[in-house]
Amino acid sequence: MKVLSVSSEVFPLVKTGGLADVAGALPIALERFGIETKTLMPGYPAVMRAIRNPVVRLQFDDLLGEPATVLEVKHDGLDILVLDAPAYYDRSGGPYLDATGKDYPDNWRRFAALSLAGAEIAAGLMPDWRPDLVHTHDWQSAMTSVYMRYNPTPELPSVLTIHNIAFQGQFGADIFPGLRLPPHAFATESIEYYGNIGFLKGGLQTAHAITTVSPSYAGEILTTEFGMGLQGVIASRIDSLHGIVNGIDTDVWNPSTDPVVHTHYNSSTLKSRVENRSSIAEFFGLHHDNAPIFCIISRLTWQKGMDVIAATADQIVDMGGKLAILGSGDAALEGALLAAAARHPGRIGVSIGYNEPMSHLMQAGCDAIIIPSRFEPCGLTQLYGLRYGCVPIVARTGGLNDTVIDANHAALAAKAATGIQFSPVTPSGLLQAVRRALHLYADQKVWTQLQKQGMKSDVSWEKSAERYAALYSSLAPKGK
Ligand code: ADP
Ligand code: GLC
Repeated sequence: MKVLSVSSEVFPLVKTGGLADVAGALPIALERFGIETKTLMPGYPAVMRAIRNPVVRLQFDDLLGEPATVLEVKHDGLDILVLDAPAYYDRSGGPYLDATGKDYPDNWRRFAALSLAGAEIAAGLMPDWRPDLVHTHDWQSAMTSVYMRYNPTPELPSVLTIHNIAFQGQFGADIFPGLRLPPHAFATESIEYYGNIGFLKGGLQTAHAITTVSPSYAGEILTTEFGMGLQGVIASRIDSLHGIVNGIDTDVWNPSTDPVVHTHYNSSTLKSRVENRSSIAEFFGLHHDNAPIFCIISRLTWQKGMDVIAATADQIVDMGGKLAILGSGDAALEGALLAAAARHPGRIGVSIGYNEPMSHLMQAGCDAIIIPSRFEPCGLTQLYGLRYGCVPIVARTGGLNDTVIDANHAALAAKAATGIQFSPVTPSGLLQAVRRALHLYADQKVWTQLQKQGMKSDVSWEKSAERYAALYSSLAPKGK
């Protein structure tokens, strides 16, 4: 079967979060089911710099008002279709935000253009390759299935994966003419959303199947608390809704071969982690003592519960923990965490920024990773933590709930526990979880058992790729 995946970020070419990891790993995991994926993504400057020997596959004179070229290239085992449209993507900031952190004002056109290019490829515009199915991800490519619906050529099946329903791509109705859709597309059963335009909304109405990145999140987004206004639309599509938990690339994330990890180890040589722990202590300016290092590797936002970390940092230190925090995001949260570090030299270290190698080393050297998310569609850092023996301490929500087994009495006795879950996401909820972690850590035998059990968890793509493959074939049974 041939699949066109459309994504606004793909690891290792460009990454702002977990979407990139998934878009980069799933095609490889699907290969063994006979699924051949080409991934269409924007030609941001970092992408144009990284690719070698691209082949021109398609040219648009006027893709929503600008010329664009589709280049095909192999990169790190992936078959990538780069949408090279300098007017849309050759910008000095990130994929979505300018250098000052503001959304590009023409994001609607940038990602409608990506989606339209996807729909044109679906319609067979690319000589000698037409997909059997299209897979889109989040609001940035959700318009692909909208354009496909209004395309006169026979419609192909499509799957839309919701990685985070909080980001919906909502714009004023005034952009409608610029989308070049037929007038009847401005309707409730399509992109119209309370008089405005919703890209994700349009995708939810037009995709043949909808997936979320964990089973728990599929249930949560049916509620007003987590549905972010789209719960009614989701409810109307419930027969087409599937929760498939993310996996991780276990080759990229492997503590016994990871090239950025100083001292390699496996579940029988966990003691070697101590050397990586020293490097972490060095980098974050922490004391070299026996107090456990709790790490955070995260976007610094309210979703991720980072205000709760800032509010409890003093007590975590008082209780005997150390904190190593890597992240960037809201300026106020960055400031609050830096202030906490200034109050506790040697006990709290904060590094503001995005640092992929350091994120690996932290999983390989820290004792636990704290993930106090208010909502978490899947979450990947707890999966990396499980794989690296960095015990996850997680909020009981979404994919965190589905992937970590809480160290309650029964689970500990059965040697099934892999981490700690807590609820609610409040300072006292988090502190209670940290207290439990410190108590377990004090008994090194119990702690090591937790680490080992976590390392045994199946965090690979194997089972989930099989579920995607089954979903694809249920939608395109004759696709080869
Ligand atoms: P989200 O996509 O909502 O941010 P995920 O847990 O799914 O959350 O994915 C986050 C990804 O980004 C993980 O691969 C994590 O290691 C990585 N990450 C987050 N912040 C940083 C950072 N400051 N430096 C390096 N990697 C980071
Ligand atoms: C989103 C979600 C995160 C998920 C990731 C990959 O960024 O916030 O929970 O792991 O997508 O699916």
